[in-house]
Parts: sequence; C-alpha cells; structure tokens
Amino acid sequence: MAEKPSTWSQLLIGYGEDAHRLGEGRELWLGGVRIESERGAIAHSDGDVLLHAISDALLSAFALGDIGSYFPDYDPKWKGLESRVILEVVLQKVRDSGYRLGQLSAVVVLDRPKLGPHRAAIQQHLALLTGLPEKRVGLTFKTSEGLAPDHAQCRAMVYLEPLPEKQGDNS
Ligand code: C5P
Ligand code: MG
Repeated sequence: MAEKPSTWSQLLIGYGEDAHRLGEGRELWLGGVRIESERGAIAHSDGDVLLHAISDALLSAFALGDIGSYFPDYDPKWKGLESRVILEVVLQKVRDSGYRLGQLSAVVVLDRPKLGPHRAAIQQHLALLTGLPEKRVGLTFKTSEGLAPDHAQCRAMVYLEPLPEKQGDNS
C-alpha cells in the first residue's frame, strides 16, 4: 500500500532578491513604510526592495515566474505602482495554489540610513500586509561595508504551508 504523504513533504520554501539604485529627490520605501532618507530608490515602481524580494520569493516557491512576469517594468501601466499591490496579487496566487505564508525572513543591505530604529514599524506593517504574526516576520539589516553605497538591496526567504483544508492533499 502506498504510504500516505506526510504534511512535512508538502511544506515549501521560496527565495527572492532585489536591488535598486539610490538617488536624491526620491523616496525610500521598505516593507510599505516610508523611511526618512536623503536618497531613495530609482525605480519604475516605488522601488520597495523588501516587498519585491518577498514577492519574488513567494512566486519562486510555486515556480510561477517572477514579478516581472506580471508587472513588466517596461509597461507604462505600472509606472509609480505601489509595491503593496504586487504583494497582494502574489499572495492571492499563493492562496489559489492552496497554500498560506507561514514565516518570512529577510535581510536588507543598505549603508545609510540606520534601519534598526525602523525595525518594529516595518515588521508591524509586513505583518499587516501578509497576515503573519509579527513573531514570524524576521528582519535583519546590514551595511554593504561600502561595497554598494549607492544601492538598496534585499534577500528574502519564505516558508509556506498548505491551507488547513488542503493538508494531506498532495495533488
Ligand atoms: O553591516 P554591519 O554588520 O556593519 O551592520 C552593523 C549593524 O548595524 C547591523 O547588525 C544592524 O543592526 C545595523 N544596521 C542598521 N541599518 C543599516 C545597516 C546596519 O540598523 N542600514
Ligand atoms: Mg525592485
């Protein structure tokens, strides 16, 4: 008799990255929170590297391409797009796939400004956007040690679990 698949075999992980060049006169958005900064991301959208890396990690977990597959940056329709909208669309794809986000872990690499004082605000906002408890939103911050002083970068990992009603269904 075939062995019943364990719940463990249904867990998924995803990984995503993003980087944007920094320029004067631009706003800096991270995790949907506006950070006071002399420079901000130069981007077609609001350039939120944290939301972009998380969204790519979620899509990657299901091999659904990346955010450029759905929001191409050459399309004028998406100019000034709030990255919150990208995340909402991607989270709907997660639900449509029978899964929910269980945890996220991200590192933002930025030389300035210091992000530590903003950690709680970003964590709270990400919890709101994703529906995760704050305890499942891990954020670390790093400088590039001067290797990339003109860029904001982010790397993110997500862990996903089947929706309760889909558990044991390995189709
Ligand atoms: O990159 P480095 O390890 O030197 O960063 C030291 C500490 O500074 C980090 O562990 C983090 O707590 C903090 N940091 C920060 N905001 C940044 C970069 C680093 O709060 N933009
Ligand atoms: Mg981006």
